[in-house]
Amino acid sequence: MIKRGRRLRASETIRDLVRENSLSSNDFIYPIFVVEGENIKKEISSLPGNFHYSIDKLDELVNEIEEAKVKGIMIFGIPDHKDECGSSAYDHDGIVQKAIRKIKELNNSILVITDVCMCEYTSHGHCGIIRNGDVENDETLEYLAKISLSHAKAGADMIAPSDMMDGRIAKIREALDKGGFKHIPIMAYSAKYCSAFYGPFREAANSAPEFGDRKTYQMDPGNLNEAIREIEQDIEEGADIVMVKPALSYLDVIRKARDTFNYPIAAYNVSGEYAMIKAAAKMGWLDEKRSALEMLLSMKRAGADIIITYYALEASKWINK
Ligand code: PBG
Repeated sequence: MIKRGRRLRASETIRDLVRENSLSSNDFIYPIFVVEGENIKKEISSLPGNFHYSIDKLDELVNEIEEAKVKGIMIFGIPDHKDECGSSAYDHDGIVQKAIRKIKELNNSILVITDVCMCEYTSHGHCGIIRNGDVENDETLEYLAKISLSHAKAGADMIAPSDMMDGRIAKIREALDKGGFKHIPIMAYSAKYCSAFYGPFREAANSAPEFGDRKTYQMDPGNLNEAIREIEQDIEEGADIVMVKPALSYLDVIRKARDTFNYPIAAYNVSGEYAMIKAAAKMGWLDEKRSALEMLLSMKRAGADIIITYYALEASKWINK
């Protein structure tokens, strides 16, 4: 007997009825880039459709986020001042701290998440304190805790450390708890790979390392079991949400994490994944809307609950139409 799978594909209505996974604007977190200065809204050349905003222009961005019905954002700051220990990352009047306060003033219901890392703030562009040519783990933890606490004090709703130091979640959790922020969740970049797909972001954030690479702290792309160990450790240390990054070339990691842990999983649809579709669409080689939505859906199907994506606003508009 022929199994007739086509019966359930015969019309739009029946396809809608049996679809296993779908996208909603509730799934998305939108990464934003904030710069010092005034009256700046400048398109990021490596991330077309995304902009550098100065604080005084954030009202325009907040309006767009509200319109697209996206509920969460992730803030990246591009400071004017960089030094060896990334001191502007934990400055009360640092770019991220100012942006948090401004966004909260404009709209108190947008979920404000902050990326906690040092690479945008250090003169050498590495994600921590350099000793003998490499990032010193335990000394860096003190700084990460300080940065996290300053974000929470400025009003951040969630802290997302992306540095890949060992023991950072426990250290940050302790600092938040002691500082009166027991209620602030941590979304850990748990399985963050050393990936070529971060290229456009590093241009956008001016955060490429001045020497060497990030291979001594970010994960080797060949490893899957190690991702499970990293996620397990972050959960033990107190992470509320765990992340796999990048997403598209690591859908197997998302799936294995989904099957292994009963925790919310975020997938970071990184800058290179976004830029590939943008570029191909510009060349006329891909239908942008269909390919972008298919890419995002693949992350949901793999098991992600949350997708951090530069497509958040555009995709939401497509979905909500
Ligand atoms: C900071 C950080 C990076 C990204 C997010 N947080 C860059 C890096 O690790 O080099 C990449 C995001 C993207 O490519 O979209 N450490």
